[in-house]
Amino acid sequence: MAKIISLLVLQAVFCCNFFPLSYSADSLIETTCKQTPFFDLCVSTLESNPKSSTSDVPGLARIVADSANAKANATLNHILTLLKTATDPELKKALNVCVVSYNTIIDGDIPVAIEAIEQNNPKFAVEYADDAGNEVQTCEDSFGRNTLDSPISDRNKAVHDLCVVFESIASLLL
Ligand SMILES: *[C@@H]1O[C@H](CO)[C@@H](O)[C@H](O)[C@H]1NC(C)=O
Repeated sequence: MAKIISLLVLQAVFCCNFFPLSYSADSLIETTCKQTPFFDLCVSTLESNPKSSTSDVPGLARIVADSANAKANATLNHILTLLKTATDPELKKALNVCVVSYNTIIDGDIPVAIEAIEQNNPKFAVEYADDAGNEVQTCEDSFGRNTLDSPISDRNKAVHDLCVVFESIASLLL
């Protein structure tokens, strides 16, 4: 009898020391992402980085910001490639608007927002993350203004949505 009880105790200790660790890590990602408008994008972005399982909320914000910056950089490279072959002056004009927008995002908005998170200034981070999203919108709108179809609308949407997720997570720190 004593043996059975000690076995049960052992099992209980094993279960409850072990289980909540992994449970709470998953649940921080999920509870955080539920407070953003793009839950699936948020979860997949965080789960693609092994650091997220041991990160606090500022850490999760940083991981999304890094991902947004990498995607913004890839989009800028793509825009520069398109510019090399573009002949339509209206298209060139719109693509050049995008170069300015993406340089602002990569060199300004996102690094400043990341630094603000690190300095425990979430209000500033939210502002700059919001500006990054607006810059993407400025780029996307530059095609419509010239009645062109945006050749980068999917990429713009991906960067924009990541900026919104970053902004949402940063605003949890307010
Ligand atoms: C952005 O892309 C360029 C060209 O591929 C690369 O050299 C640079 O390191 C990238 N920068 C960042 C911050 O990822």
